[in-house]
Amino acid sequence: MVKFAAFALLALVRVAIAIPAYQSLGGLSQREVDLFIRQNPPVVIPNPPGPLVDDSIRMVNDADHPFIAPGPNDMRGPCPGLNTLASHGYLPRNGIATPGQLVDAIQEGFNLGNNFAKFLVYQGFLINGNPLTNLISIGGKSPLTGPDPPAPAIVGGLNTHGTFEGDTSMTRSDAVIGDNHNFNETLFSQFVDFSTRFGVNGTYDINAAAELRNQRIQQSMAENPEFVFVAPRILSAYSEAIFALIFFVDGRQNNRQLTMDAARDFFDLQHMPEGFNRQPAAVDFPVVDPLVTTIFNQHPLTPGVNQGAGNFIPQPQTPVLSDFCGIYEDFVTRIVKGLYPNPQGPLLDALNLNLNFFFEGIAGRGSGCTQVFPYGQPSNASTPSAPAATGSAIMPTVSVTPGSNMTESAATVMPTISATPVSGSNFTGSAVIPAASATASSNSTGSNSTTST
Ligand SMILES: *[C@@H]1O[C@H](CO)[C@@H](O)[C@H](O)[C@H]1NC(C)=O
Ligand SMILES: *[C@@H]1O[C@H](CO)[C@@H](O)[C@H](O)[C@H]1NC(C)=O
Ligand SMILES: *[C@@H]1O[C@H](CO)[C@@H](O)[C@H](O)[C@H]1NC(C)=O
Ligand SMILES: *[C@@H]1O[C@H](CO)[C@@H](O)[C@H](O)[C@H]1NC(C)=O
Ligand SMILES: *[C@@H]1O[C@H](CO)[C@@H](O)[C@H](O)[C@H]1NC(C)=O
Ligand SMILES: *[C@@H]1O[C@H](CO)[C@@H](O)[C@H](O)[C@H]1NC(C)=O
Ligand SMILES: *[C@@H]1O[C@H](CO)[C@@H](O)[C@H](O)[C@H]1NC(C)=O
Repeated sequence: MVKFAAFALLALVRVAIAIPAYQSLGGLSQREVDLFIRQNPPVVIPNPPGPLVDDSIRMVNDADHPFIAPGPNDMRGPCPGLNTLASHGYLPRNGIATPGQLVDAIQEGFNLGNNFAKFLVYQGFLINGNPLTNLISIGGKSPLTGPDPPAPAIVGGLNTHGTFEGDTSMTRSDAVIGDNHNFNETLFSQFVDFSTRFGVNGTYDINAAAELRNQRIQQSMAENPEFVFVAPRILSAYSEAIFALIFFVDGRQNNRQLTMDAARDFFDLQHMPEGFNRQPAAVDFPVVDPLVTTIFNQHPLTPGVNQGAGNFIPQPQTPVLSDFCGIYEDFVTRIVKGLYPNPQGPLLDALNLNLNFFFEGIAGRGSGCTQVFPYGQPSNASTPSAPAATGSAIMPTVSVTPGSNMTESAATVMPTISATPVSGSNFTGSAVIPAASATASSNSTGSNSTTST
């Protein structure tokens, strides 16, 4: 009960301050969604890639992945890591990708572990991606994530404030204060300053990270009248602060000390340093978690929100940083459900599938969280599957329509979506469920959606 009250309170807070952020596909009437689906048949959604077969150290700024600066129509956004991967061709250079491509790219390019990769990617995808086309922009809104569903849908990409992108970033302004997705030189100067003052040899290390993390929070509290610092942002804010000292440090040094030259390369130029090597082994929750805890413990904080600049109101009833399962539950029940209050048919199926993939990452952390089903447990929900044997395998084991027995027919139409970018519209290159059947509600998908194109 206490927790539900907390959700209700927060929901009000969010509505008051963040309405524009919450306009993805969510909020459409069923009629509008049906119409959209008839006109834009949903793609078949493959399982996410498994762990890398070879997760050893490797030079990743190699001849196959040359840096090419983004063109005017290429999307770049708030995450310097993803921007860099796109500019080196680990992601489609236009910045439009499937979740599977994102998992592949962060594993290949930076050596994120599979559970951690799925956790990050599906969290972002569930709120900023297009579940019906299985595409997301790593920056702003783009027509390449598929034809727009009817208003008020936006499918806004990672730039969408208050979703994946959040306040108190290290090198990006708060949305209310300035540009929340482009590199900010003033903030980078502060990054350099804190590294000089607190880091070993002027590097961005764990101490610099702890101090700068706290400084940015204090700044947002003081300056941003609409500062929001509750789950899930509390987790991503502390995590981001340590990503740079893990993933942006050359794997041959691997000393968790980021030089300012390398920081400039990644944050500003979105460029891997010459000869850059990724991490020497896959980096998963067991590596990340203790570092996150370390910087948090140097400046512990109760989650909260500003009601006016300088007026930070703690929200102790919301999940705290150490309550990983609580943050997961809050995310699924409050944020995902808030975006998609009453999905049906293929939209519901796609959401349930992505929620499963998200939970695979959660379960892989080993914290004993129980899966939450915001739309009820599908009659035969796929349990998190074992990791795929290869980095790019598509395992056709998860049915697109939980509750039906069309698993095998779904498999037969499984597209080669992970191998080739599907960034064009009209969904060329991927098999689709025929439009007529796609409009069937979820209780009749078994009889209607078995035909493949
Ligand atoms: C950059 O950050 C500074 C310091 O927070 C802020 O005053 C400025 O408005 C930001 N610039 C942009 C373009 O967001
Ligand atoms: C600082 O950098 C110098 C020169 O690179 C190096 O010799 C020294 O060991 C470094 N100090 C620490 C504490 O890492
Ligand atoms: C649910 O799926 C499992 C595994 O695919 C299968 O063994 C089982 O028979 C299914 N149950 C129902 C009710 O379809
Ligand atoms: C689907 O499952 C139902 C109940 O499990 C079964 O009666 C039916 O024969 C199955 N249909 C197919 C095509 O396998
Ligand atoms: C989809 O394909 C049709 C026919 O090939 C074409 O006329 C239309 O412009 C395409 N739509 C988009 C958004 O590219
Ligand atoms: C689904 O199939 C049934 C019979 O197989 C058909 O009557 C119905 O119109 C179909 N529904 C859709 C939306 O195609
Ligand atoms: C299931 O299908 C029947 C017949 O098409 C329809 O009347 C009913 O509303 C559907 N139930 C749900 C939950 O969609």
